[in-house]
Amino acid sequence: MIIKLDATGDQFLNCDLKILTAFQVEVSTTTKGKGKAGKTTESPVSIAHWQNKTLVEEFMGLRAAATFKANKDETLTFTGALGETILVVGLGKKDSFDDESIRKSIAKVLKAHAGKFSSIGIDVEGFNTIEDDIQTAALIAESIGMCDYTYDNYKSKKSPKTECTIFLAVDKKNASKIEKEVASVKNITNSINVARDFVNEVPNVLNSVEYAKRIEDDVKKNLKGVKVKILNKAQLKKENMNLFLSVNAGSAHEARLVHLTYEPAKSNSKTKHVALVGKGLTFDTGGYSLKPGASMMGMKYDMAGSATVYGAFRAAVLEKAPIKITCILAMTDNAVNEMATMPDSVVTARNGTTVEILNTDAEGRLVLADAFDYACDLKPHYLIDAATLTGACLVALGSQVAGVMGNDDEFYAELKNHADANGEYIWQLPIIEEWRQDIKSKIADIKNIGTPMRAGTTTAAAFLEVFIKNDVKWAHFDIAGVADSASHLPYCPANGASGLIIRTLTSYLLDGK
Ligand code: BES
Ligand code: MG
Ligand code: ZN
Repeated sequence: MIIKLDATGDQFLNCDLKILTAFQVEVSTTTKGKGKAGKTTESPVSIAHWQNKTLVEEFMGLRAAATFKANKDETLTFTGALGETILVVGLGKKDSFDDESIRKSIAKVLKAHAGKFSSIGIDVEGFNTIEDDIQTAALIAESIGMCDYTYDNYKSKKSPKTECTIFLAVDKKNASKIEKEVASVKNITNSINVARDFVNEVPNVLNSVEYAKRIEDDVKKNLKGVKVKILNKAQLKKENMNLFLSVNAGSAHEARLVHLTYEPAKSNSKTKHVALVGKGLTFDTGGYSLKPGASMMGMKYDMAGSATVYGAFRAAVLEKAPIKITCILAMTDNAVNEMATMPDSVVTARNGTTVEILNTDAEGRLVLADAFDYACDLKPHYLIDAATLTGACLVALGSQVAGVMGNDDEFYAELKNHADANGEYIWQLPIIEEWRQDIKSKIADIKNIGTPMRAGTTTAAAFLEVFIKNDVKWAHFDIAGVADSASHLPYCPANGASGLIIRTLTSYLLDGK
């Protein structure tokens, strides 16, 4: 789908499908009479914002208009005088129609109609329930960008792609500002779709070596000025990343650590530096602590953390973030062969901590532990990691809310503001002293699991915390629930990669504060 702006209204006029809105206005009237006198509240439908008087007349002349109530998601379709299709979308009451309602409404309409028309006109002012036409256009563009995604690489019959141009009818006065905003949004939604492609790619194709190559290719092609360093197995050994390598031990593919660096044009030693770290398990069998078949399905998504931070990094670079950003992607699968790490093993981490590996399925924290220590050596001020770390997070917060844990409440509050501003759900879980005790090992410094079936998401975070150093402020996003199957959101595919949390992280990176 191509988005174009139309400040003259000419292109809108010629579109095959025109999308307009109607909402309910509350009118109170006092009735007098012998019987029941009092107040009645009516909800007449308002289309006062329609610019085109011919359309207004056409609508008013419809018999169906008399019963159209403009309830939220209620639609009325009719054929206009030019033979075009007019779709009137009900928004319900204007004041309860917020940013997320705009995204959802556009997504629902597009899902129902996009394939059938080659040109669609959207009356932006009609969706402007938030009294900000620039933001409204941005939200519409965001929803369009996020909807514009299918994953059919492995279908012999591809889903038919009708080239569709969407014209956003906007007011002349803000057209150039809206144009800029829409271009920025495109950079973000394109990056979300690139990340979704990585996440959806199958594990027999996307192994660690291939994944690192594809990231490098994308950086070289699209992110001018970003430095790429890729550590192979020998280099990881030299770096003493033994926990990371213990997860890779049973694999047919070498582990890779991708290290990307972006510096803004104006950068000095005081420039804010954020490190992003992502869990990149291209497949998680559980290792010797093998997952049962049903739980193993979907474990190709276990690299979603790395794709999420890469998506945010990519968008932030394209949008010329004002801060320095390091992006570390730790890639391997967790497989079984005669070299695979056995439960009861003790391995020394890069930072010197000895770890008793009691469950090889708690592998994400091992990979991240060494990646954290490596990242902290680069002296970032902040470190954000994203990982499909625990099934327990799915139990606690479902597939709608990402769990966040860390070591700085102010940092969390800032991230929460960005999540709220982008319509994404995150919620903080605590790390308490008792859970730090719960991961103490009898024979080594720590063990890689806490008490089974107890606070699994937060004991994992208590483990990760051990590997943060140099007073780095840290936030850990457990995205095990939200990384895929976001069927509750009309602008996400019902199955497969969601692309969620990328907007929250990008928004934080671009803020620069
Ligand atoms: N990749 C899984 C977590 C996961 C589970 C993600 C379900 C998405 C959906 C992780 O590596 C894992 O296996 N965690 C274990 C930890 C346990 C052994 C302490 C889990 O959650 O069962
Ligand atoms: Mg696992
Ligand atoms: Zn895993």
